[in-house]
Amino acid sequence: MNIRITWLAVAAALAAGGAHTSAHAAANAVRVCTLPGSPTAALDQAVARAVLKTAGVVATFVTHGIDDDGGDDGISAHELASALGRDCDLVAGFPRSSVADASGSQMIFSQGYLRSGYVSVTLRHPRAATPAADGKETVAATWSSPSQLIAVQEKNARFDLENTSELTVDAVAKGRAQRAIVWYPAVVAYQRAHPQHQFAVAATASPYADWHLVFASGAGMRALQSRIDDALARMNEDGRLAALTRGWTLPDSAASEAHSSAPSLESTKASYGRSAMHGPGAIIKVAATTGGNAPAFDHEQVEHGQHLYSESCAKCHGAQLEGITAPALSGPAFAPAANSHLTIGGIYQYMSTNMPADRPGKMTDQEYADLMAFLLYTNGYDTGDAKLTSEAAQLSTTPLNAGPRH
Ligand code: HEC
Repeated sequence: MNIRITWLAVAAALAAGGAHTSAHAAANAVRVCTLPGSPTAALDQAVARAVLKTAGVVATFVTHGIDDDGGDDGISAHELASALGRDCDLVAGFPRSSVADASGSQMIFSQGYLRSGYVSVTLRHPRAATPAADGKETVAATWSSPSQLIAVQEKNARFDLENTSELTVDAVAKGRAQRAIVWYPAVVAYQRAHPQHQFAVAATASPYADWHLVFASGAGMRALQSRIDDALARMNEDGRLAALTRGWTLPDSAASEAHSSAPSLESTKASYGRSAMHGPGAIIKVAATTGGNAPAFDHEQVEHGQHLYSESCAKCHGAQLEGITAPALSGPAFAPAANSHLTIGGIYQYMSTNMPADRPGKMTDQEYADLMAFLLYTNGYDTGDAKLTSEAAQLSTTPLNAGPRH
C-alpha cells in the first residue's frame, strides 16, 4: 500500500484545532503507523483517527512506516524503535501485557483501547474424524509468538507451527489441526473474510494470553500521550470507543481465565528485550526479572550437552558459542551480568521448540535438558548433584544472568 495522507482527518483536526489552523500545523502532523501484517490494522487506524480528532491533533497515516525487513521473521524492537524516530511518531495497535510491558524499550504508552489476546479456537461444528493412533490432538500455533509459548504448555498434543496468525486460524478451518492457540483478532479477521466458518473460542490459562492494544511513541511525546489518554477517556464515557471496537474485543468467556491467571506487573516486570514480534502481540522472548535460583544440573549432562552442541548447533552458533549466522549463546549479549530480559525457562522453551533451526523441536526432552545444562555451565553456573529435567528447565523463571563463576 502507498503512503496515505488522510486529508479528511487533517481537515477535521484543523477545524477542531482552532488556533492550529495553519499550514504549519499540517506540516507538523503526527505521523501514525500501524504494525505490518496486523489483522487489526484497519481498526487501529480507525481508532487513531477518532482519538486524534477528539484530541484536536493533526495526523497523517503512514502505511509502510515500519519496515519488517520484508521477511516473515516479525518486527524486532530495534526496527520498531528506529521507525519511531524516522517515519512515525506514533504506533497505533501496539500490544502490551503484564508479562511484556516493553518498559525497557524507551517507549511510552497510552491507555489500552482494545483488550485482546490469545485464545484457544476450535471449529464450532467439528467434522467427525478418527482420533490419531497415539491419542494426541494436533494444536496449531504461530511460530515465534506467545501462541507458541502457550501451546508448548499443552499436554498430550502435537504441534502444527504456522508462519502467520491467519494461517494458524486456517489450520483449524481446513482441518490441519483440531485446535489453535491464536491471536484473537486474527480469528475475527478470518471469520469476516470467510463467513462460512464458525469458530468456538475459549480462554487459554496462561500469563502470556492477555493483551491490550495501545498507542506507543518515543519518550519525547508525553504531551501527546496525555492528550490521547484524555480523548480515550472521553470516548469511553460517550460510548464511541465501544462502538468502534465492537466485534474485536475479547469475548468475556475467553478473557476471564486469562485475566485471573495473569501475574501482576510487580511480580514479573518484563520487557521485550531482543524479541522479534510476529505481527501483533507476538513476542517470543517474554521474560521475567524475578525468580528463584537456577535449576540444578550435573557434570555428565554438561558433557553430553557439549557433544550435542558441537553436532547440532555449532555450525550456526559457533564452536565457542560466539555466534556466526545465529546469535552468540554466551557472553553479555546472551547472559548479561544483571537484569537479563530472558529467563532460563523462556530460553528453554524457545530452544526446545525452535532449535536446531534446521530441525526444530526434533530432539528429545532429555537432549534439550542436557543442552540447557551445557548453556548454563558455559554462562557461569556450576554443576551440582541433581539432574536437570525438562520440566524444571521449562518452569524456571530465573533470569539468565551470567552465573557466579563469572
Ligand atoms: C541452522 C542454523 C541454526 C542451528 C543449527 C541452530 N540454531 Fe539456534 N538460532 C538460530 C537463529 C537464526 C537464531 C535466532 C532466531 C531469532 O532471533 O529469531 C537462533 C536462536 C537460538 C537461541 C535464542 C538466542 C537468543 O539470544 O535469544 C537459542 C538459545 C538457540 N538458538 C539454541 C540453539 C541450540 C541449543 C541449537 C542446537 C540444538 C541451535 N540453536 C541450533 C540458528 C540456528
